[in-house]
Amino acid sequence: MSILKIRTIGDPILEQIAKPIEKIDDSIIELATNMIDTMIAGDGVGLAAPQVGHSIRMLVVDLGMITEGEIPTIFINPEFLEMEDECEMDEGCLSVPDVYAIVKRPKRIKLKYLDIDGREQILEDEEYLSRVLQHEIDHLDGKLFVGKLEKDEKKRIKKKLLKIKPDGWIPESKKK
Ligand code: NI
Repeated sequence: MSILKIRTIGDPILEQIAKPIEKIDDSIIELATNMIDTMIAGDGVGLAAPQVGHSIRMLVVDLGMITEGEIPTIFINPEFLEMEDECEMDEGCLSVPDVYAIVKRPKRIKLKYLDIDGREQILEDEEYLSRVLQHEIDHLDGKLFVGKLEKDEKKRIKKKLLKIKPDGWIPESKKK
């Protein structure tokens, strides 16, 4: 078991578009296992590979935190097939420590992904899992939840954000 170092806001890898995984080999399985350990050690419900320094399209979710009896699950090359409606929910992120804010996102998702055995899976959800997956897949696209906030929320967390990132933070997409 290895606990990996979590990259925090301002690290360029968090703003890169991660590459699809072509082959699920032993190194991918080992990374996924270490990501699960790291997520659990950090009390997170999800963790994406770029957060631990690998710009590849894989994430883990601790479904046990969401539904009793479920176990941590690995999602490889996830792709949205459908997104519907909209809702607001509080979000936090292991890469943006101690910052929580309300984010508006689609409510219902339909998603396809590969499991760790390389089998294609389809998942539909409109509850908390939908939210966690959208947040984690954003990481694969180089986006952080603090870049998605409405004006009031942005204002509210500004001080806390400056504590982690004293020179300020502008999402890559807004930079000229
Ligand atoms: Ni996150």
